[in-house]
Amino acid sequence: MKILILDSGGRGDALGWCFKNDSRVKEVFCLPGNAGMKKNGIIVRPDLRAPEEIARFALSEKIDLAVGGSEGILSAGIADVFEARGIPIVGPKKDATILESSKGYTDLLCREIGVPVPEFEIFENPDDAKAYINSLQYTIVVKCDGLAEGKGAIVCENAKEAREAVDRVFEMQRIGKWGGKSVVIQKRIFGRELSFFCITDGHALIPLPVAQDYKRALDGDEGKNTGGMGSYSPHEWEGEKLTKIVTEKIARPILDGFREKRGIIYQGFIYFGLIFEDGDMNKPILLEINVRLGDPEAEVILPRLKTPLLDICQALLENKLGELKIEFNDEYFCDVVAASGEVKSTGKGKYPGYPGRYKIGFPIRGYFENDFQSLAFSAGITKDAEEKHITSGGRVLHLVGRGKTLEKAREMAYTEMEKISFEGMRFRKDIGKD
Ligand code: GLY
Repeated sequence: MKILILDSGGRGDALGWCFKNDSRVKEVFCLPGNAGMKKNGIIVRPDLRAPEEIARFALSEKIDLAVGGSEGILSAGIADVFEARGIPIVGPKKDATILESSKGYTDLLCREIGVPVPEFEIFENPDDAKAYINSLQYTIVVKCDGLAEGKGAIVCENAKEAREAVDRVFEMQRIGKWGGKSVVIQKRIFGRELSFFCITDGHALIPLPVAQDYKRALDGDEGKNTGGMGSYSPHEWEGEKLTKIVTEKIARPILDGFREKRGIIYQGFIYFGLIFEDGDMNKPILLEINVRLGDPEAEVILPRLKTPLLDICQALLENKLGELKIEFNDEYFCDVVAASGEVKSTGKGKYPGYPGRYKIGFPIRGYFENDFQSLAFSAGITKDAEEKHITSGGRVLHLVGRGKTLEKAREMAYTEMEKISFEGMRFRKDIGKD
């Protein structure tokens, strides 16, 4: 079989790695992919990005199955284009991606159907948003009501920061870097966060392993929000009790509400970003929905699947998901992300590093030369004119340790990380330590 993954980062590499380990699969392509994926035997085509040209490629290669990995390509309507051409694809259609591309839409749906979300209001005008902020007695999160490269949720310590965040969101929307035309002002909730994933055909809803993501840039959960600096799975709360609570209070009502109140059937992976106020497992609050697997969560939950990913995808496409029992192992996986950190600029200043401005183009040493005990997934890697591998993104690569305990898994990831270096390389030292 030939498989096509539509993604560019570590999640795409992890999806491709899963399929590569299946003896029924002959070739795995990843579009646009990145140059580091070759390490896992994945073929990339960085020049193909538009849905129509990707569909032509899939037809010419006789692709048997495609998986939409990133929100960008899914929101661009890849599933609609593929379905129209008869190419099997796992991933929601464009209308269903609104659950991620508009936080305001999802919050309003949740309010209507009684799914717990933090108190919120939506504004199309910065002055109204700031007046509302000034009237509040609690700290808040300012959210871009559109896709924002994973940087659209700004956690604010005080009203001044919140007003500045409002200006930033509207400015990024005005210059077209972030999507949407409005801002969501949401009460900041303090508690325990975790990422809960399911696969669904719009009716059957099958939970997947639970992962802990580390969103902040620096150790001790300091610094700015990133796409994720590391993760681990299984989470200590994983099990029947958590699954029942989240399914009944969040996942099932949203899926049914989306179908019955809005007429939209969701098909594919779905990600519920949750917070449990005061650490109480019985009270999940939905922070966000993403229309895909998480990154770096995919890197720690996919290796736990005992049921082949191919069987899961085929069951979904054949409307047999409800009959499938998905099994996963209880080995621990711990993902540490190596990112582009602080470096000097050519002038007097410096690049602060991801998620702020970072410099790319640094040679990567040790990634391709070594075999790792851990799993290795690439994210921001390209080749220069001399075919040398260099950095090309904020998050550069992931090493995923494995073991019978979380401690063993994290030890493996950190030990292997010592083999890799590039200028400005930075990684959190506390992934899996809590
Ligand atoms: N790790 C967060 C995300 O994938 O959005």
